[in-house]
Amino acid sequence: MRRKIVAGNWKMNMNHTEGLLLAKAVDDFLLKKELHSMEVILCPPYIHLSQIAGLLRASNISTGAQDCSDKESGAYTGEISAGMIKSTGAEYVIIGHSERRSYHNESDELLNAKIKTALKNKLSVIFCCGEHLDEREKGNHFNIVKSQIEKAFNGIESEDFANIIIAYEPVWAIGTGVTASSDQAQEMHSYIRSIIKEFYGKKLSEETVLLYGGSCKPSNSAELFSMDDVDGGLIGGASLKEEDFCKIIDSFPGK
Ligand code: PGA
Repeated sequence: MRRKIVAGNWKMNMNHTEGLLLAKAVDDFLLKKELHSMEVILCPPYIHLSQIAGLLRASNISTGAQDCSDKESGAYTGEISAGMIKSTGAEYVIIGHSERRSYHNESDELLNAKIKTALKNKLSVIFCCGEHLDEREKGNHFNIVKSQIEKAFNGIESEDFANIIIAYEPVWAIGTGVTASSDQAQEMHSYIRSIIKEFYGKKLSEETVLLYGGSCKPSNSAELFSMDDVDGGLIGGASLKEEDFCKIIDSFPGK
């Protein structure tokens, strides 16, 4: 059985006090509920990571960063390395989010280098892929996603791919309130699984966790998560509200 994961991408939200309160509330919820068959990952801004990692008590909650540098260390003002992230107690890092691709011009080659650095530093990677609206309208969405995956994992061996989670996040659904239908999500997730099978074989394709992201909220999470190839969600806006995020966690069929 594949792991079930709900990850919260806080983006550039929550000051330090607010962040600690939210993390504690989610941790309390998980302690009370004992939903042990699923994992929750909180991805706050870097500066909260260390303290949040220290306060979490539930066994199935962990932390991740929202990005990392492709460099190991050195004179790169403002950058944060994968090794630094690991040293906070975090276990994950999001790489390739569409906001980084668009606003920071992150190329597939750069993302490939970031993934390699993250894996070398023993972080698991939540790799984001997904098409823009015009690409879907032209019927190009499968090609786009395949190319993103192919380039990002160039040179990554099977042993390392075991530490990869893929989040399908159609750009037109991120922060827009428009969600992919559960059929659209399932169709793409099943396609992504077929790509992994082609590159890494059947076993890894069946084991890889595929998350859906893009306006996932309490009103649609149960339906999305009920699809065969949707193993959870990467949640943006709704992860900032304790009640909504906990409802999403709780909406997993079978939990
Ligand atoms: P959203 O963001 O849930 O606010 O649409 C998802 C994401 O960007 O990961």
